[in-house]
Amino acid sequence: MQLTLKIWRQKDASAKGQMVEYKVTEISEHMSFLEMMDVLNEQLVNSGDEPVAFDHDCREGICGMCSMYINGEAHGPDRGVTTCQLHMRMFKDGDTITIEPFRAAAFPVIKDLVVDRMSFERIQQAGGYISVNTSGNTQDANALPISKHAADEAMDAATCIGCGACVATCKNSSAMLFVGAKVSQYALLPQGQVEATDRVQNMVAQMDLEGFGNCTNTGACEIECPKGISLENIARMNRELMKASLK
Ligand code: SF4
Ligand code: FES
Repeated sequence: MQLTLKIWRQKDASAKGQMVEYKVTEISEHMSFLEMMDVLNEQLVNSGDEPVAFDHDCREGICGMCSMYINGEAHGPDRGVTTCQLHMRMFKDGDTITIEPFRAAAFPVIKDLVVDRMSFERIQQAGGYISVNTSGNTQDANALPISKHAADEAMDAATCIGCGACVATCKNSSAMLFVGAKVSQYALLPQGQVEATDRVQNMVAQMDLEGFGNCTNTGACEIECPKGISLENIARMNRELMKASLK
């Protein structure tokens, strides 16, 4: 395949960025999107140009690093996949593809396609954990009965990889799908009850502090989420917040 790529280039956080056009050839339909980017970067390095900076780590849909906005969609045109799992067979020979970083005030661009998602880390630090006694008297996990339904729902919420596609997709740059998933994975389990009140209040307060917008129930986040995180998690987070305010 031969492709035209229009890519956002930005030297650093304070520089003014712009779209720059490149041509790539000999792209196989079996390549992943990031492998295609590797081919471009090899081409740029060979011609003495600066390669395009982009985030990646696992390249198998786990780490949530590969945040690219491809042809106007977070993680590109396929459903239920991250950019690293997107295959070039989703495109046609001769296509023009636009590639931008995830855009949100709380995700400032650091360079080219790399954004700073430390705001998510700070939300997690505000309450996305449980405190466990590891002194040797830890309760056996099997001693706590959990219904299959609750276990399944908690596991579904826990599949959120913190990629930020929900934020990049939302017209309000809301992080409520992400925070809803992180609150839900504990709210559904007995282990999460002890710190439940502080957790939801602190995580929501941090989310607001970071400058994320509010949810207006558009639902675009759910559609673009590579892990299929359900909007039900936002409703559950709102219920948890209401319960916490009544305590
Ligand atoms: S909710 Fe989905 S889109 Fe948002 S951070 Fe988690 S995995 Fe990514
Ligand atoms: S590189 Fe880890 S999810 Fe894409």
